[in-house]
Amino acid sequence: MASLKTVYTGVALENPLVVAACSLSSKVDTIKAVADAGAGGLVIKSLFEEQILHERGELEKALNIGAEKFAESVTYFPQLEHAGAEEHLMWIRKTRRAVKMPLFASLNAVSPGNWIAYARQLEETGVDGIELNTYAVEADPERDAADIEKRLGDLVAGVTESVSVPVTVKMSPFYTCFAHVARRMETAGADGLVLFNRFLQPDIDPDTEKPFSKMTWSTPREMMLPMRWIGLLYGRTGMDLIGNTGAARGTDLAKYILAGATAVQAAGALLQSGIAQISNMLQDLEQWMDGKGYADLQAFRGKCSQAEFKVNPAVYERAQYVDFILRSGNR
Ligand SMILES: Cc1cc2nc3c(=O)[nH]c(=O)nc-3n(C[C@H](O)[C@H](O)[C@H](O)COP(=O)(O)O)c2cc1C
Repeated sequence: MASLKTVYTGVALENPLVVAACSLSSKVDTIKAVADAGAGGLVIKSLFEEQILHERGELEKALNIGAEKFAESVTYFPQLEHAGAEEHLMWIRKTRRAVKMPLFASLNAVSPGNWIAYARQLEETGVDGIELNTYAVEADPERDAADIEKRLGDLVAGVTESVSVPVTVKMSPFYTCFAHVARRMETAGADGLVLFNRFLQPDIDPDTEKPFSKMTWSTPREMMLPMRWIGLLYGRTGMDLIGNTGAARGTDLAKYILAGATAVQAAGALLQSGIAQISNMLQDLEQWMDGKGYADLQAFRGKCSQAEFKVNPAVYERAQYVDFILRSGNR
């Protein structure tokens, strides 16, 4: 029988399926059920500093600080409730005592100083690592890419220098040169990248003529962007690459690992199908591995990465593009 064990930013996991930060990871009982269903690990719902400030009536002031704006997340997860950081921290401590499964805290703060302060507090709860949820829509025409990327690098360096647990960065795909930004994260001390954060895309109601935000579930088709970047970065970074978005079946886990992922986070599929889907996905992955004759994940990790093709990434990308255009022209 195939071994599903993996190592996620230095933390040993029984298998590569990690429950992503979401409403499943916001209650002790549900987290216990997730552990019983056999998940490899779990990212606890984010500590959103903005929500804490909002409840204290200080949000407006904090968001006017200037460069440190992460305003989109205010509207992204309005269903979450925090009575304050202390309650969140107490709840994580309780969860830590209740389960053995590796737990990762998630943080989305407003000011650089508070990213560090909250990261330290989260570390003290006994979590195995911290995920920085860098949810930001950079829409200020006055700020260029260099400035945005430097700020992110400084923020990550500030946190990694202040805590001793592994730190992962949940990334936006919308950077001018993602490979360069990824390297910057590594230089800043990140142990892993979570690819990618899934952004809320507001719709417009033609009747009311107003924009509105509605949560939509991801589909496996959305795996292609993160899978592609995992495939491009694998073998070129010492950081762990963690797939996030669209994983719903055991073969989706296999695809992410073929691209080069260490582990895969899933939220939507588990919220829709229930916690039992965890064991279904793991069984399917094991069956797929048995069918292929793979004894462990290492036997096929990165097999479909760009590094396997041993050419310059730009040439690889260009060749795929030209091949596609030529083939579609022949139809
Ligand atoms: C109900 C819900 C709550 C979420 N809460 C958080 C959160 O607190 N922090 C975070 O980084 N991502 C959060 N996410 C995003 C998920 O972690 C994940 O990145 C996204 O859903 C894509 O994965 P999926 O395709 O498996 O759903 C949430 C998603 C859902 C559906």
